[in-house]
Amino acid sequence: MARKRKRKVVEGIQVRAIADRGKAIGKDAEGKVYFVDGAVPGDEVSMLVLKKKKSFFVGKVQEITKHSEDRVEPKCQHFGVCGGCKWQHYDYQKQLEQKSQIVKDAMRRIGKIDESVVKPIIGAEENYYYRNKIEYSFSSKRWLTEEEIQSDVVFDNHPALGFHRPGAFDKIVDVYECHLQDQTSDRIRNFIRNYALEHQLSYFNIKENKGLLRNIILRNTVDGKWMITLCFGARDDEQIQKLCDALLDQFSEIETLYYVVNLKKNDTILDQKMELVHGPGYLIESLGDVQYKIGPKSFFQTNTKQAYRLYSEAVNLAQLKPTDKVFDLYCGIGSIGLFVAKSCASVVGIELVKEAIEDAKENVALNKTENCEFYAGDVKDIMNEAFINQYGTPDVIITDPPRAGMHKDVVQSLLDIACPKLVYISCNPATQARDLELLKEKYEVTVCQPVDMFPHTSHIENIAVLEIKS
Ligand SMILES: C[S@@+](CC[C@H](N)C(=O)[O-])C[C@H]1O[C@@H](n2cnc3c(N)ncnc32)[C@H](O)[C@@H]1O
Repeated sequence: MARKRKRKVVEGIQVRAIADRGKAIGKDAEGKVYFVDGAVPGDEVSMLVLKKKKSFFVGKVQEITKHSEDRVEPKCQHFGVCGGCKWQHYDYQKQLEQKSQIVKDAMRRIGKIDESVVKPIIGAEENYYYRNKIEYSFSSKRWLTEEEIQSDVVFDNHPALGFHRPGAFDKIVDVYECHLQDQTSDRIRNFIRNYALEHQLSYFNIKENKGLLRNIILRNTVDGKWMITLCFGARDDEQIQKLCDALLDQFSEIETLYYVVNLKKNDTILDQKMELVHGPGYLIESLGDVQYKIGPKSFFQTNTKQAYRLYSEAVNLAQLKPTDKVFDLYCGIGSIGLFVAKSCASVVGIELVKEAIEDAKENVALNKTENCEFYAGDVKDIMNEAFINQYGTPDVIITDPPRAGMHKDVVQSLLDIACPKLVYISCNPATQARDLELLKEKYEVTVCQPVDMFPHTSHIENIAVLEIKS
């Protein structure tokens, strides 16, 4: 039985803003600060305190005593529990304003850049069903909500198939609907759950590292083709085959089906052998007239339609000329490089993950592109003097690092190379602004273009254009 804990409730919190990571910020009559999950600016709420820090409290809404005008009805039955789309209850236009402000604040405070360079944000036309990849996990332990724990009901730790609850690695929220991916995703996941319960297949227990059903990865293309990867935590050929057959019988949309038996402690399948059960083994997605072959281990931007807008905007802002030499740093499967290839003379891409570079090379062949080359390795090691001597100084460098931003040695290399133009794409305006500040020695930021790739979350992508100072 779950242990009951009585938690403190604070009343009369006036919510006025949203913090960097998406929690609402409010104050009580005494001016104490609260970070509240489930509130939006304009609300007055009482908050269940989950954490107490020296100068603030963290918790979630217990009751809304005054509703903000910007509050909307969340679409999902799991809102507030799943933790996936924290802003579903917040008007989408307000979300966009908030994201613009996040970019402007980062540029001003961290980058010391005049926020007038920030252009109006490009929002998503479709703010639901926009993901092309979702991973669900099985667990023998379902996540219990605070209300369930506080109630007098005794809950068995019955199994769940859904999302990891943030901060509780072994517990899963049992998900019946998710509005982030095309609804076929719900049908496939719920079919697998029903099949598993009916056939009494065991769910994975991560602490004991046992149980048959471990994860499902669902990927789809804009034109409705699906690639499913079933991950198992034990070897049971007969049950695996039967589940695969049942899935293929039920869903003609499944173009490719893989399974993988992962007996390791962690969930990553990048180092595991994939067994192809059905289909060609990959999906083909298009961004404009560029095609991408996406295998079960390939990285691809998860919002296909907004990826097209992001890359198109990056090309426009780069103002490429047919004679330009372009470097594509942190290039993944070469998505941006291939996208810009027809607008310039040549592209050289660098990426740490060697499988991604293998995909990039396959994509070069698929698109019959002749002016792109891709290298596997760390940007900070590869982009050295010898590399520049070999390829010459680029006219434009496009850089798209992970959330942590660029290594300071890479920033220094960019200053040493001093090419005329940099286009810096980032999913983390704070680290981007930090790097822009360092690059100011030789560059001026002329434009920032925020693009919303992840509606209902606080995440925001930003393109910054830097011109060399004369
Ligand atoms: C934000 S993703 C961008 C991928 C790609 N540009 C795209 O749009 O699909 C960042 C990429 O940087 C790669 N990466 C991370 N650290 C790296 C490093 N030190 N050197 C080279 N690539 C790195 C990651 O593997 C990942 O593919």
